[in-house]
Amino acid sequence: MPTASASYASQQRWTLGDIPWHAIRHEAVARHEELFYLVTSASFIEITTDLYTRNLIEYFAGDPEVTGWLQDHWEHEELQHGQALKHYVQTVWPGFDWERAYRDFFAEYSRCCKVELLEPTRSMEMAARCVVEMGTATYYTTLSRLSRDPVLSGLTDRIREDEVRHYKHFYHYFRIYQAREGAGRGRTLRALWHRLKMIDGEDGLIAMKHVFRASHPYQDFNKRVYRDLRRRCWRDAGRHFPHEMSVKMLIKPLNLSPRFQHIALPVLTGVVRHVVM
Ligand SMILES: [Fe+2]
Ligand SMILES: [Fe+2]
Repeated sequence: MPTASASYASQQRWTLGDIPWHAIRHEAVARHEELFYLVTSASFIEITTDLYTRNLIEYFAGDPEVTGWLQDHWEHEELQHGQALKHYVQTVWPGFDWERAYRDFFAEYSRCCKVELLEPTRSMEMAARCVVEMGTATYYTTLSRLSRDPVLSGLTDRIREDEVRHYKHFYHYFRIYQAREGAGRGRTLRALWHRLKMIDGEDGLIAMKHVFRASHPYQDFNKRVYRDLRRRCWRDAGRHFPHEMSVKMLIKPLNLSPRFQHIALPVLTGVVRHVVM
């Protein structure tokens, strides 16, 4: 009888073996420090997904469709994102001690990742997951456009496709729980807003901190250093951010009327463009 992971492997859309690592254009990316920070911090967070999976499975206990998908598909795909990005970092920036920096990152990050930080209701948590997947889908779209190495662009395209599919799953479950709990638009908006505020919060800061410390062992890391680093990273990347895509994915759970959406979309896209640039 095949094991769960063996049966999953046969359904996987891609594996690390599909990436043409030998074709990496080192000269196009090796000196791109901002890209190094963006790719490495993403690798840290993705590869730690198993912490979140346990929390989510515990939270959705009793719903085998959700917990089965989380365990058999979502977690494998997120971990693969982490493994692929880690491999990329180790290939392009071999002087960076990924393992050591990750150990320090994990020690701090694992303390922040607790089940009680999840939303108070299941529909709200599903709405929050939609925001997270929107965040990752737009992040990898940005990286793919920013990178001058076709291998990194191809890899981040594959990851983005996975993130969009995750979004669709969480959105589907959100609709089921929303109907079951009778959650209105106001409550959904609160959950979206709450998660949106966190998207650029602790996760990114802790990841950046440990990438920075491992590369600059004799320098202090504080809020100012983080702000400068972040500004530097997003100065170029911001130009490639998919503004309209982010707004569409963000407001979808609000189920706005087509007329209202038609008015709101360009306004909100303008706001996002202003914030991200
Ligand atoms: Fe991911
Ligand atoms: Fe995802």
